[in-house]
Amino acid sequence: MSRTAAVVVAAGKGLRAGGSVPKQFALWQGQPLVRHSVESLISAGIAPVMVAIPRGWEEVAAAALQGLPDVVFVHGGETRRESVACALEALADDAPDHVLIHDAARPVLPRAVIDRLLAALASAPGAIPALPVVDSVVRGADGQRETAVAREGLFRVQTPQAFHYPAILAAHRGWNGGAEAGDDAQVADAAGLAVALVAGDEALRKVTFASDLETAPMPAPLPRTGM
Ligand code: CTP
Ligand code: MG
Repeated sequence: MSRTAAVVVAAGKGLRAGGSVPKQFALWQGQPLVRHSVESLISAGIAPVMVAIPRGWEEVAAAALQGLPDVVFVHGGETRRESVACALEALADDAPDHVLIHDAARPVLPRAVIDRLLAALASAPGAIPALPVVDSVVRGADGQRETAVAREGLFRVQTPQAFHYPAILAAHRGWNGGAEAGDDAQVADAAGLAVALVAGDEALRKVTFASDLETAPMPAPLPRTGM
């Protein structure tokens, strides 16, 4: 049996969402966002869950995750990538085989996505959930449309992102400190690791703005009536 641990990054400032607490501690559907994301991982049998938090928010984080088993707090860093690296380092003494790296700000994590990611790790060192872009895409700036971009072959990338733990730890250790990595797949790319795409899920959306907290989960589709 391979062992899978998780990293949940909850050390951001949530500047775009604003509010009195960083968004990962804001309530959504009656619970702090981070509790939703951590609970989904725990209920899938993943342990431990290393949660990267900002300095000064230790008590708030402990209250948000009170009573959950196998949660370990670590301090995050200045950037998302640094927060991931801090949490990966904290796993090194008892290294798991696989690790799922997830944004606290994505409260809905369907079990089927976890299953697809872990299945993909049988044949690749990394796997990420992605959805095809369905809208038309353009490049533009300052309200000006510059050019259309063909959407064929373009995907929106989500988290969790799954990796062989020793490989992604080494990739973070070898990160050259250049431009900020948007996600861990970019860190994997820089280390030459192959990253597979698996089907993501619309429910995995990220809370970015305050208005995202007002949105309920995606409703189930209405039953089709005869047409
Ligand atoms: N994150 C982190 N450490 C950082 C920056 C971000 O752990 N130094 C986490 C956030 O807490 C979030 C996830 O990375 O769960 C995705 O980042 P994002 O949505 O950009 O969150 P914030 O950086 O907090 O928000 P903003 O960019 O609006 O300030
Ligand atoms: Mg950010």
